[in-house]
Amino acid sequence: TGYVTYDPGFTNTAQCESKITFIDGDEGVLLYRGYPIEQLAGKSTFLEVAYLLIHGHLPTVDEHDGFVERVNRHTLVHEDFRTFMGTFPRTSHPMAVMSSAVSALATFYPESLDPYSEETVELATVLLLAKARTITSYLHRRRVGEPLLYPDYSRGYVDDFLRMTFAVPYEQYEANPILVHALDQLLILHADHEQNCSASVVRITGSSHANLYASVSAGISALSGPLHGGANESVLRMLTSIQQNDGDVKKFISRVKNKEAGVRLMGFGHRVYKNYDPRAAIVKDQAHAVLSILGIDDPLLAIAMELEEIALSDDYFVQRRLYPNVDFYTGIIYRAMGFEPAMFTPLFALGRMPGWIAQWREMMLDPKTKIGRPRQIYTGSPVRDYVPLDER
Ligand code: CMC
Repeated sequence: TGYVTYDPGFTNTAQCESKITFIDGDEGVLLYRGYPIEQLAGKSTFLEVAYLLIHGHLPTVDEHDGFVERVNRHTLVHEDFRTFMGTFPRTSHPMAVMSSAVSALATFYPESLDPYSEETVELATVLLLAKARTITSYLHRRRVGEPLLYPDYSRGYVDDFLRMTFAVPYEQYEANPILVHALDQLLILHADHEQNCSASVVRITGSSHANLYASVSAGISALSGPLHGGANESVLRMLTSIQQNDGDVKKFISRVKNKEAGVRLMGFGHRVYKNYDPRAAIVKDQAHAVLSILGIDDPLLAIAMELEEIALSDDYFVQRRLYPNVDFYTGIIYRAMGFEPAMFTPLFALGRMPGWIAQWREMMLDPKTKIGRPRQIYTGSPVRDYVPLDER
């Protein structure tokens, strides 16, 4: 009934007002709560940025230390939760396991489900940030057949995440500080991106007052698709397949331009950025720095750079204003750190947790929020009479 606007893909529809993240896609600007992404990635830490996104201001020393301490304290998972995660086939895609695991947190922590209590929502926030880290490291451990390790409360979030992911049981492990810093930066770069596909899914799921875990689990499922977070894994597979085809970058580009079914230049293009994605610029520099410090000569980096160079001077990409996005160079860094491609999107999800939580909380507190319920343009059959089976 009434007037309905047709806007496939919501290219021109705002579903909320938000104070969290600002993007200027023409200028390549990204701000979290007003702070430029370049400054946060250069100077802040992931948990501080999480606090900023969720609470709206940079924490004081006391707020910061209290938050870090609370997240650290909840890192351990219930033994039955570990068993639950261990029931999925070892070869499962980790994104499917991750969304199930986050959804299952509601069954283990029923005391954190009340969406109307500030205290309970804060508990769910801390639990989710803490358990997400343990879940992500276990996703890797399960795939390689290693046991889940206990957290070490004396270490930082990223430092202990790398230890829990890569340490050999009973052996001393010191994460390379360069990798700790690089991963911290990558998580910050992924921490929020206003009303993207998964954030919108989190909001619309939560608009029915579904709990935080259910809403974020839905967001993880949305993120898994190759046009969204799944792009980082697809980029690496694309680069590998070009390498296996004699490194013929031009041939691949012409397949993209001919719009062969399913062939896109993954890690390129963005709904909002019609200029260089500021996150991609940081990740590109970081890829060079990390590889050179580790002394790794990855042929896939050379292929990626050649692809970028050709694409940026090709009319097809120029006219459509397609630039590298955040997913283009991240896989090369994750690979250098020792992650396999299937783990790339879970790492994106780990980084995006604060954003999803902040979006869900803002949505719950906004008195203007209504249950998400888009309309449609019906194009099906007009009314008709049922025909019994034996008369058809
Ligand atoms: N390769 C080749 N052509 C492309 C690409 C690409 N990566 N992206 C867009 N195009 C073309 C598209 O075919 C269309 O051409 P035409 O006008 O001739 O039909 C035009 O550009 C506009 O594309 P669109 O699909 O209408 O744009 P969109 O805003 O709906 O899609 C996108 C945005 C990110 C889904 C898309 O650019 C894409 O599929 N990129 C590859 C996947 C990717 O890297 N996703 C990660 C996005 S960034 C972070 C994240 O969410 O993970």
